[in-house]
Amino acid sequence: MSGFARLLHVEASPRGSRSRSSAVARWLIDRIAPDTVETLNLFDADLPPFDGAVMEGRYALIAGEAVSPEVAAQWEAIRARIDHFLSFDAWLFSVPMWNFGIPYPLKHYVDLITHPGMTFTVDQTGVTGLASGRTAILVGSGALDIRPDGPMAALDHQMAFMRTWLNFIGVTDIRTVDVRPTYGMAEEVEAAMQRAYEEADALTAALSRPERV
Ligand SMILES: Cc1cc2nc3c(=O)[nH]c(=O)nc-3n(C[C@H](O)[C@H](O)[C@H](O)COP(=O)(O)O)c2cc1C
Repeated sequence: MSGFARLLHVEASPRGSRSRSSAVARWLIDRIAPDTVETLNLFDADLPPFDGAVMEGRYALIAGEAVSPEVAAQWEAIRARIDHFLSFDAWLFSVPMWNFGIPYPLKHYVDLITHPGMTFTVDQTGVTGLASGRTAILVGSGALDIRPDGPMAALDHQMAFMRTWLNFIGVTDIRTVDVRPTYGMAEEVEAAMQRAYEEADALTAALSRPERV
């Protein structure tokens, strides 16, 4: 067993039981944290808008200026969302590739929870992420085979973005499982699924080694 007391599954596919990334994520969860997982499906999450008014409110709050009760409540809700995110000791993001990057609700979530003084700090020495010490697992799916050593690797703005963002907020222990290609000949897709489940099994074994608990 991995030793994750609290695991958040951030699910970025809207396809429910038909989602290939979710299927591999569930396979993994059943093996690493079946009883302690919380699921956040971002298509069901009804995320609040992050627009100009919300941004201006943040700058006003940082400057110590008065803000409307509505703006104060918006930022309290964002703070609560960040506290919720940081309360986990591991996150599993299941992420389809959409137009070379990530599905828009996941980007929306990232924009909501990534703010100076809340998820990272900046000073003369540079940026310090406040989410360090946790583990992130990325289960990424896609029609194209953009795995790192292949000829389409340069098209990856999905896993590369997730890794860059996680590093930025201080996360260095990042594990990945690839579910791709999910489009093509049936045998090829079946082989991709089989490979993903095997990668998930290897990850389960790696996470179970005593040195990480
Ligand atoms: C709006 C949209 C855009 C997509 N864009 C890409 C893409 O750029 N590259 C790719 O490899 N697959 C793309 N796909 C295919 C999905 O990544 C693929 O079907 C994947 O298996 C979906 O994961 P899921 O089954 O977990 O939802 C796209 C799918 C959708 C719905």
